Amino acid sequence: MTQKSRNILVTSALPYANGPLHMGHLVEYIQTDIWVRFQKLRGHRCTYVCADDAHGTAISLHAEKMGISPEQSVALINAERKRDFGEFLVEFDNYYSTHSEENRQLSESIYIALRDKGHIARRTIRQAFDPEKQMFLADRYIKGDCPRCGASGQYGDNCEACGATYSPTELKNAVSALSGATPVEKDSEHFFFKLTDFQSFLQQWTRSGAVQEEIANKLAEWLDGELQDWDISRDAPYFGFEIPGEPGKYFYVWLDAPIGYMASFKNLCERRDDLNFDDYWKAGSEAEVYHFIGKDIVNFHCLFWPAMLQGAGYRTPTQVCAHGFLTVNNEKMSKSRGTFITARTYLDHLNPEYLRYYFASKLNNRIDDLDLNLEDFSQKVNSDLVGKVVNIASRCAGFIKKAGGQLASSDSEAELCAEFMAAADRIADHYEQREYARAIREIMALADKANAYIADKEPWALAKQEGTEQQVADICSVGINLFRLLMIYLKPVLPALVANAEQFLNVEPLRWSDATELLTAGHSINKFKPLLTRVESDKVAAMVEASKELLAEQSTPKVADTELSRDPITEEIEYPDFARVDLRVARIAKAQHVEGADKLLQLTLDLGGETRNVFAGIKSAYSPEQLEGKLTVMVANLKPRKMKFGLSEGMVLAAGPGGKELWILEPHEGAQPGMRIC
Ligand code: MSP
Ligand code: ZN
Repeated sequence: MTQKSRNILVTSALPYANGPLHMGHLVEYIQTDIWVRFQKLRGHRCTYVCADDAHGTAISLHAEKMGISPEQSVALINAERKRDFGEFLVEFDNYYSTHSEENRQLSESIYIALRDKGHIARRTIRQAFDPEKQMFLADRYIKGDCPRCGASGQYGDNCEACGATYSPTELKNAVSALSGATPVEKDSEHFFFKLTDFQSFLQQWTRSGAVQEEIANKLAEWLDGELQDWDISRDAPYFGFEIPGEPGKYFYVWLDAPIGYMASFKNLCERRDDLNFDDYWKAGSEAEVYHFIGKDIVNFHCLFWPAMLQGAGYRTPTQVCAHGFLTVNNEKMSKSRGTFITARTYLDHLNPEYLRYYFASKLNNRIDDLDLNLEDFSQKVNSDLVGKVVNIASRCAGFIKKAGGQLASSDSEAELCAEFMAAADRIADHYEQREYARAIREIMALADKANAYIADKEPWALAKQEGTEQQVADICSVGINLFRLLMIYLKPVLPALVANAEQFLNVEPLRWSDATELLTAGHSINKFKPLLTRVESDKVAAMVEASKELLAEQSTPKVADTELSRDPITEEIEYPDFARVDLRVARIAKAQHVEGADKLLQLTLDLGGETRNVFAGIKSAYSPEQLEGKLTVMVANLKPRKMKFGLSEGMVLAAGPGGKELWILEPHEGAQPGMRIC
């Protein structure tokens, strides 16, 4: 079992900084984190880095919509991300941003190296241009009527109605999705990375074991045909890095994004004495580099990225590990079905280790899609973790405690214990190969054996007889030892549960190599506390409902919503726009909880005679009793909206950053229900 210690650098794809993390993302970060934790448990020097992918038009448009700068928006999302990842026990050694000085320097130097070796070409191309926004438009920012079936509101590259694909210039009545202006065509000089220079290198590299076979086969379709040069520049305005020596030209986000892996690692090296950037990245390095990614971004990681590294004189990745896409209940995640579940909504309702376990039980090293079936999820977690694994400890702990808290010897079942210990190498192999589902199957088969052993020996029945103390202690000590071995094997997946088990077992943090030994007679254990509770189906249902609710809330413009409510005011309106908003004083006649809603309260508002039913997202800050009788301000002429819970006939105004800090506006000094605010 002794193995040479390896130096391993691991990355997950850098999530775009323009929206919340969701269950689909988590497939990847959990898959990677399990692998990293496994390597660390094995005693290797394994480093896990990631970052926000901060550049590009999608990110600057998101910031613009929020009324803040891209830098501010990226910073807000970065803080939120780190919290979400932390709570899911995804433990990066560094989580950085591609909008960093290290990344700028590395991107510039890699570009310059490629340029100086003749791998960059310049060509003038013609593109759609938004004359109002004064910017070039990517295909997805152009809308119009499908040239084939005439469906309106279609994007620049394909029709969702009939499936036709076309170029944006073929769209009828095309408009810019950003401004509504009619796009014009305009020429501009672009920079291209000459992928063709790397054709034979890539043919060899993709067949070297660095990519999964199914991907190598797919890539061969391109590699054996004619490769296209890759457009790596975008014209100002663009949120990114300016190309050295080319004012007004920026690196396309996908050029500097993978370099962000290096930059995040470089940033970490500055803080860590045991890590040296060149040891991992110089050509010929013996360190291992693994990129975990989703199947949608294979081209960037298996063609452009290795070619860029090769061309600029760096080492290439040891392996790119691609996974499939997540579906929920066998369908694409859907906002209206409540299956577009964000990381935060999940965390509001359920224990993150449930999801880690569930994904582990389904993951393999191929790129098949995987399904989060919410029924199966509860069932599997309850039967495997609560019913089998934790049960072993809870059945044995009490008897040991009663007999003084010290273990007896496990010699009576040397063979059974040896079988459990011998599984370590096989299970390790499954983790190493990213065959987590197989690892979990092995572990659960062992758990079944442990339970069968205890059920067969019936220590609870023995304990009722005279003079059986030693026998009971022996059986339960074996049970505890088997449990401990299972904890070692599950530690990459369930780090928090195992930390609690270590406390119960009264042992130092378990390492993989500890599976060669057992706890011996005389070892004291601590009081057993329940390690995991069952998944409750009403919590799962509440999570789905909350995901639907989130959608309802997102599609309603809000006065006070997030931290963003203190932003600079960006767009001016004319007085008549303001005058159209009918603001009235309202008395909260009644406030009630809404069955199944996490954020909403149902308010009955008295407008001085007339009453209105309004659903307000203020539950985090107020309980119904605090509200009844209060005066507040409402938008009285808002078109009624049908929500999942009923019709909402207006909106109440509130201010504050959100959560507990949200205050409804309370007029005073003689305000009466129904009064108009002007
Ligand atoms: N910013 C790029 C990656 C740059 S890497 C140099 C990006 N970001 S992303 O936010 O869209 O996706 C991040 C990762 O999550 C990708 O690997 C992507 O494949 C993965 N997933 C996003 N949605 C997913 C599912 N529904 N299911 C599984 N993985 C998914 O791509
Ligand atoms: Zn069409």
